[in-house]
Amino acid sequence: MGAAALALAVGCGLAAGQGPGDGISKSTYASSEPLKGERFLVDFFPASKETNECPGNVCNCSWHGEAFEVYEGRTALDASGFGLHLVDTEKSTAGGLPVKKVEDHFAEKLAGAKGYDAFYDYATGLCLESSSFDLVLHKLERAAHDYLPYAFDDSAGRTWYGALVRVPASQMVVDMLTDTSPKLHAVAANLTVLENRLPPRQAVRCKEAFQKNASHTVAYVSRAASDLDAVHAWYDAMNATLSYHSHHTAPEVVTKCFRWYGAEADVCFRRRPGGTRPSQRGANATRGAFKVADFERMLLSVHGAVVGGDPNCNMDAWADNHYAVDATHDYDFVHAWLRANPSQPYVCQGSAVHYVFDPTGWAVQLNVNFTEPGPSCDARSDDGWTCYRGTCKGTVAADDTPSRSRGAGSLTLLDMPAWTANPNRRFQLLLGLGLCASAGAVGWFRLKGKRHYRAVP
Ligand SMILES: *[C@@H]1O[C@H](CO)[C@@H](O)[C@H](O)[C@H]1NC(C)=O
Ligand SMILES: *[C@@H]1O[C@H](CO)[C@@H](O)[C@H](O)[C@H]1NC(C)=O
Ligand SMILES: *[C@@H]1O[C@H](CO)[C@@H](O)[C@H](O)[C@H]1NC(C)=O
Ligand SMILES: *[C@@H]1O[C@H](CO)[C@@H](O)[C@H](O)[C@H]1NC(C)=O
Ligand SMILES: *[C@@H]1O[C@H](CO)[C@@H](O)[C@H](O)[C@H]1NC(C)=O
Ligand SMILES: *[C@@H]1O[C@H](CO)[C@@H](O)[C@H](O)[C@H]1NC(C)=O
Repeated sequence: MGAAALALAVGCGLAAGQGPGDGISKSTYASSEPLKGERFLVDFFPASKETNECPGNVCNCSWHGEAFEVYEGRTALDASGFGLHLVDTEKSTAGGLPVKKVEDHFAEKLAGAKGYDAFYDYATGLCLESSSFDLVLHKLERAAHDYLPYAFDDSAGRTWYGALVRVPASQMVVDMLTDTSPKLHAVAANLTVLENRLPPRQAVRCKEAFQKNASHTVAYVSRAASDLDAVHAWYDAMNATLSYHSHHTAPEVVTKCFRWYGAEADVCFRRRPGGTRPSQRGANATRGAFKVADFERMLLSVHGAVVGGDPNCNMDAWADNHYAVDATHDYDFVHAWLRANPSQPYVCQGSAVHYVFDPTGWAVQLNVNFTEPGPSCDARSDDGWTCYRGTCKGTVAADDTPSRSRGAGSLTLLDMPAWTANPNRRFQLLLGLGLCASAGAVGWFRLKGKRHYRAVP
């Protein structure tokens, strides 16, 4: 498939409907053992391997004549297609810690699931219908895999149950939530009690999903945060809406959740107790010397060192720690913020801004519309970005694009999102492709008049 046809197929297909997860479409993590995590997710959760995975989970890549491999463990939740992705690349972590080192911190902090640790706040919140929830717990127990069960009251005072699980050898935490669990109800008196985990709108969405017998829905992606004011200001600048704000005591935690324009699921941030100095915020709520603020500083340092110089072909390994926002709305407000804050690192893909970094240092992948090219995005790296080693090498010609091979039979050579696995989405894709074909000469990235620059995920 030619590059233009490919871009046409991907662009038009995505334009036909919202991405998976209703705006928030996936949680991705840099990983040293992506296969191990994939196997765990497929074995224990209602999840399957992504249909467009490279053969043997190894993608053959090239970038400026150099061949290299990317190892992946990419799964999609059945029904919704929400992606839970792990990727092992050779990208740089200059100025910070290697991926394995941070995974070791997660392992140490969450070992044995003995109690709540602030690093559980780096989670994907998944509402599971009662029987699926209890089934996952049964399977985990049979395999002697630790999890932290808990209870909480939602904003309306109704009791919910939850269980936190770390995916082996990774930074990935899945927070399972349900309104009824015979299994946890039986031990309710002994459960850890946590703050409300669900913004009111998400509690409603979850209940609706349960009533429709949908086995699950993604309610939120969350992060620990040492500075909620900075987070709030950033999401304001990104035109996201504050959807939930709570100050809970015992355990002490302040939560702020935001909803991106066009999204249904929320992005939540939690600050837990610590000293008064910024570096000590949240410090008391996690085991070991590596604190939430240390993690943030490390991530921001790497982004500054690797991506800071040129947004066009650099990508650091820590940009793989991201959630994605899929929306058909115009997101030009992102450009306005980048122009007003020229020292902030970001990553372009082609003419569009593709990664930005919030104050926690975690990345946000934008699969959205723009009416204009991103600032300084010069279209050098238009294709196959997931394969980038991540380092700009001198001057790169405009048409000099890297290649990525996913093997025969896959729909595209790019990282198509999981929703192609969903029959409903597949229909939308086919419909989209049909509309595109009949639009014929449109050539969507060469549109005259109002141009829409859209990043592919
Ligand atoms: C709660 O914990 C106590 C002490 O460990 C134990 O004796 C009791 O059986 C537990 N109750 C339930 C319902 O699990
Ligand atoms: C949901 O599933 C249960 C059992 O599988 C069934 O009894 C019930 O009728 C279903 N409800 C709906 C609304 O489909
Ligand atoms: C910001 O988001 C709101 C919806 O929350 C939307 O109505 C508005 O148009 C957006 N503003 C811009 C500049 O995109
Ligand atoms: C955090 O721990 C330090 C040292 O153990 C203690 O002095 C401080 O009061 C604690 N802060 C909070 C908010 O619990
Ligand atoms: C987003 O872009 C697609 C084509 O790329 C277009 O069909 C759609 O109308 C755009 N959405 C908005 C809100 O402009
Ligand atoms: C990737 O390269 C390996 C070794 O050269 C080869 O066995 C494999 O088939 C290649 N995969 C694809 C998808 O081309």
